[in-house]
Amino acid sequence: MAVALRCQGAERNDCISRIWKGVLVPQFTDAYARKFYYLRLSVTDVCNFRCTYCLPDGYKPQGTSNKSFLSLDEIRRVTRAFAAAGTEKVRLTGGEPTLRRDFVDIIAAVRENTAIRHIAVTTNGYRLARDVAQWRSAGLSALNVSIDSLDPRQFHAITGQDKFHQVMQGIDAAFAAGFTKVKVNTVLMRDLNHRSLTTFLDWIRCRPIQLRFIELMETGEGGAVFRRYHISGEVIRTQLLQQGWQLQVRTRSDGPAQVFRHPDYQGEIGLIMPYEKDFCASCNRLRVSAMGNLHLCLFGDGGVPLRDLLAADDQMPALQARIAISLGHKKQTHFLHQGNTGITQNLSFIGG
Ligand code: 5AD
Ligand code: SF4
Repeated sequence: MAVALRCQGAERNDCISRIWKGVLVPQFTDAYARKFYYLRLSVTDVCNFRCTYCLPDGYKPQGTSNKSFLSLDEIRRVTRAFAAAGTEKVRLTGGEPTLRRDFVDIIAAVRENTAIRHIAVTTNGYRLARDVAQWRSAGLSALNVSIDSLDPRQFHAITGQDKFHQVMQGIDAAFAAGFTKVKVNTVLMRDLNHRSLTTFLDWIRCRPIQLRFIELMETGEGGAVFRRYHISGEVIRTQLLQQGWQLQVRTRSDGPAQVFRHPDYQGEIGLIMPYEKDFCASCNRLRVSAMGNLHLCLFGDGGVPLRDLLAADDQMPALQARIAISLGHKKQTHFLHQGNTGITQNLSFIGG
């Protein structure tokens, strides 16, 4: 059946990629007219690091449930539903997503959706040196590696793993495998790294790395850590502007970072400041947990179960309808300022 398309140019191409079995699938949009181009999909809760602000005592399976994480087929179906409703970027998160033995197959399954132009992973870097070339061949297009310190001993103290050099070799391996840019996530922590901007800048002077300082966010289990270590990204922004760094313009499927560039540096600096006014106004992302729950916000409620609609291909319209209806309940902003962290005990189950 032919579908009349009223839109033109880039918008027209978007419409074409949203036609499923001859029907134009409406783009996922919420009550505040925010459109969702970006899905963050967690594929496991398991993590082998023990970051002080996330899993200080290491990963422990939740409750008594022995339900497994989303299967390859479920991942294929959920990403197909999002792709058909306008999602153009999928980030694989965890836990540590690359601990999944079928991680290469997961990338390939997401890649089957031609509408998804960017497939990214957020990783602690543990498997990078060994596997990054395979991930790239399978279709991975972007990498975010978490590195909170460039000092090996401090890295060990923060993550509980003496793997600084292994992670650095992983970044070299990523460039060798053909990635032209790597993003690095650094959680900004008072006294631990907030005075280290010069060290980080020296590191990215001749490397195509976008180093992103993420403000520490309060989680249910992380209240004490938050009170001790939270510091506003403003300390970084002020120094950057003083030193001639310039703020860049965002595109619609970009994450929430403010990105700065400087003519003397190959790398870029990103700032993620979730406590800043209007942070949520440009929200373009949704999350699905490794248990198959849709989370409308990182700091929201328990999530909307999708798993019962991931069992067969022909459930796709019902799946899309459930997601679209749920979006009507997406709140305008998070309630972190009021100290309300929702159900989010730590970020390991949903990958930040
Ligand atoms: N605040 C800010 N960032 C966090 N991350 C994990 N927990 C927190 C928190 N409480 C970050 C990790 C990683 C990404 C997955 O989320 O450092 O870069
Ligand atoms: Fe693991 Fe990431 Fe949490 Fe660190 S922040 S413990 S690497 S899930």
